[in-house]
Amino acid sequence: MVRSAPITRRRPRFEYPDDFDPMWTPARPEFACAANAVSLMMPTIEPYFVRTVTGFVPELEPALARSTEDYVAQERAHHGAHHRFNRLLTARYPRLGPVERLLGRSYGALERLASPRFNLAVVAVSETMAYSAARWAADHRRELFDGADPAAAALYWWHLAEEVEHKASAHEVHRAIEADRRWWRLRLVAAMAVSLALVMVFVALGTATMVAAERRLHHPLAWSRLLRWSVTFAFELLANLALSLRAGHHPDDLTDPLWYEVWLRQLDGDPDAEPDGDRDTGLDGWLAAPDQPAAAS
Ligand SMILES: [Fe+2]
Ligand SMILES: [Fe+2]
Repeated sequence: MVRSAPITRRRPRFEYPDDFDPMWTPARPEFACAANAVSLMMPTIEPYFVRTVTGFVPELEPALARSTEDYVAQERAHHGAHHRFNRLLTARYPRLGPVERLLGRSYGALERLASPRFNLAVVAVSETMAYSAARWAADHRRELFDGADPAAAALYWWHLAEEVEHKASAHEVHRAIEADRRWWRLRLVAAMAVSLALVMVFVALGTATMVAAERRLHHPLAWSRLLRWSVTFAFELLANLALSLRAGHHPDDLTDPLWYEVWLRQLDGDPDAEPDGDRDTGLDGWLAAPDQPAAAS
């Protein structure tokens, strides 16, 4: 059964200046390192999500199958945009190449060795992680994004906003497939352990590679910020993962940050979406930039 709101397919284009600085948040370069490390994972993990979920579409009732196709379309757009962004990162930091290859081998082994239903549980867990990241980023947006490069910020806000928009998709597919099966909760807990381990290892490797390249490895402020962000994010994430284990849980029961809805309405050209003050998205400046060819299609 589909309980969540319709999912919109969008294809914004992100253009970066020739002298684009991968440390795109100059006031918080460590955050750029961590966010870039997450971006590095997207062209590996999102196609894996797409393949896994698409394999179950024939088993879904028609309405859920249609909304799942829209979810898959959003994920395809995400990893395409991150693939283009990541080329700028690997050009600046060649040592990210081995991290990327190890990432591909690790998720490839998971996909090959685990059962389709376990892989589906990993996707459901990963979507809970993405939703948690979106909530955490919205809460910390002033600290993290003030003064950021507008195109890079728009890439992340678009992705996070759509993660909120499709927060229920993988959950609904997972529950539809697992509804009558035993041990679904145990499988979900095991998928949490595997997903958390992989994400922690690869975000740490990618972040450390870029922090070292930027000569901030011995900078106590850099590590104290990363530690503080990790701890506050862990609280958000663990609460949402615990909720997802409840039999009657549905992601729509969680209240989303209003800010993403305003952001997407503005991207979609809604003239009534005029955020101001604390809700200023910064998107209007990016949309008006001369090197921004088309916001959405
Ligand atoms: Fe995504
Ligand atoms: Fe997602």
